[in-house]
Amino acid sequence: MNTQEAILTRKSVRGFTKEQLTEGELKSILDAAYASPIAGGVYKTIRLTVVQDAEVLTQISNYYKETGGMKADMLFGAPTLIIVSGQKTFDDTAMFANAGCIVENIQLSAWDMGLGSVFNWSAGTVLPGNKELLDILGIPEDFKPLTGVVIGHPAKDVPMRELKTTIGKGKSGCNNERSINENKTDSSL
Ligand SMILES: Cc1cc2nc3c(=O)[nH]c(=O)nc-3n(C[C@H](O)[C@H](O)[C@H](O)COP(=O)(O)O)c2cc1C
Repeated sequence: MNTQEAILTRKSVRGFTKEQLTEGELKSILDAAYASPIAGGVYKTIRLTVVQDAEVLTQISNYYKETGGMKADMLFGAPTLIIVSGQKTFDDTAMFANAGCIVENIQLSAWDMGLGSVFNWSAGTVLPGNKELLDILGIPEDFKPLTGVVIGHPAKDVPMRELKTTIGKGKSGCNNERSINENKTDSSL
């Protein structure tokens, strides 16, 4: 899958099998995360926490349910959650922009390997209120969770996105035969 294809076809996945990511898959995803653009290039203001322990994931999911007063599992049964935290002293707007870039890189990397993922906004809105969980997760006091992303193997086929464009190679060696949806030939977005 080339970059444009990954960007155009990626979709949020909200249902996962229990199958865990391989170490290689997790490494690729983290490599993609570490390659994200970060405001001012100050990477030390960002901290990623990979959660794969089933008990801790259940604790997080239960806390979301209690806090939101709902039955739904906000982790969608995913075997991996990556929490993106930012240093509290850093500019708030830049921190959230950084987090968005990181999650997008993670999602595209996962998609490229046939994995599914979805933003987990509750990691930023709900988790900071639970000191006990933050301690279990090893998130230091000077960092706050901003958002998260859950990743895993999609529980069912993900329907193809309706594409409004074809996938070409652009100016150099233009080759619009690479349309991934043969019905759509409109090249405008
Ligand atoms: C900042 C942000 C926060 C999001 N938070 C959640 C979330 O907490 N739970 C969820 O299921 N989807 C969440 N999403 C996913 C969006 O609902 C989804 O990206 C959007 O509906 C477009 O669908 P697509 O990702 O399949 O293209 C979030 C997306 C963004 C950009």
